[in-house]
Amino acid sequence: MNDFTPGMVWLVGAGPGDPELLTRKAERLLVAADVVFYDALVGLNVLALARNARLVSVGKRAGRHSKDQSSINELIVEAAQAGYKVVRLKGGDPSVFGRSMEELAALRNAGIGASICPGITTASAAAASAGVSLSLRGLARRIQFVTAHSRTGDTLDLDWRALADGQSTLAFYMGRSAAGEISRNLLAAGLGKDTPVLIACNVSLPEERLLNTRLDLLALATATIAEDLPTLILVGEAVESSQIGEVIETLNEATHDHP
Ligand SMILES: C[S@@+](CC[C@H](N)C(=O)[O-])C[C@H]1O[C@@H](n2cnc3c(N)ncnc32)[C@H](O)[C@@H]1O
Repeated sequence: MNDFTPGMVWLVGAGPGDPELLTRKAERLLVAADVVFYDALVGLNVLALARNARLVSVGKRAGRHSKDQSSINELIVEAAQAGYKVVRLKGGDPSVFGRSMEELAALRNAGIGASICPGITTASAAAASAGVSLSLRGLARRIQFVTAHSRTGDTLDLDWRALADGQSTLAFYMGRSAAGEISRNLLAAGLGKDTPVLIACNVSLPEERLLNTRLDLLALATATIAEDLPTLILVGEAVESSQIGEVIETLNEATHDHP
């Protein structure tokens, strides 16, 4: 396939960390790349697949020094203009809190051909690891992906009433340090203290940690297991680990009613 010509850029989703969760297309693009610009949360075993490429970290981690977005845009544009096949590798899916549109716009502005290869976003991988579903018939009719990132010292500017509708699964990205604020605001907006929560750290990696807890204990539980780890917080009835039991019961009842 000749969809990766010199001077072109692919924005590639690296998935949550496990190389087996990469798409086959992402793997092929990594093998073909001359240069890979990667984020801090990209798994080392994923990077290792780019065996012919120069690897450049443009890593972003909460609260740590990293290149600003315009410097990243410039680096990618320069590499493409120099005639390299460039991969911009982003954790999870590039379209979920990945600032992919800013990079795509800078590339299009410079007349550079660019395309996106999707990846598995952390919320999907966390649900899979925990053996739960993000949606659940009758209980979770919506899935809301929420960024809990705010400038240091600022409070989160979110519509808490809309989030606390009781029919959603909420996936909070970048929420580790805001866990207390998330819990307080969702409780104040009407969610129950015992609303199920799943805290998922290092999803899909050998060091993965999962913890089931409840909304009023979210801050304490996050401080206990997440330390400094990449952490996703899922909130809602669907992420209760015992839901599978309820679903089995419903199936059994249906079989009894209609043998
Ligand atoms: C800038 S966002 C990027 C999200 C990414 N584009 C995705 O689709 O998953 C970074 C946040 O994603 C979450 N994250 C990424 N990888 C993770 C992992 N392996 N385990 C837990 N959380 C992760 C964390 O909340 C982290 O702060």
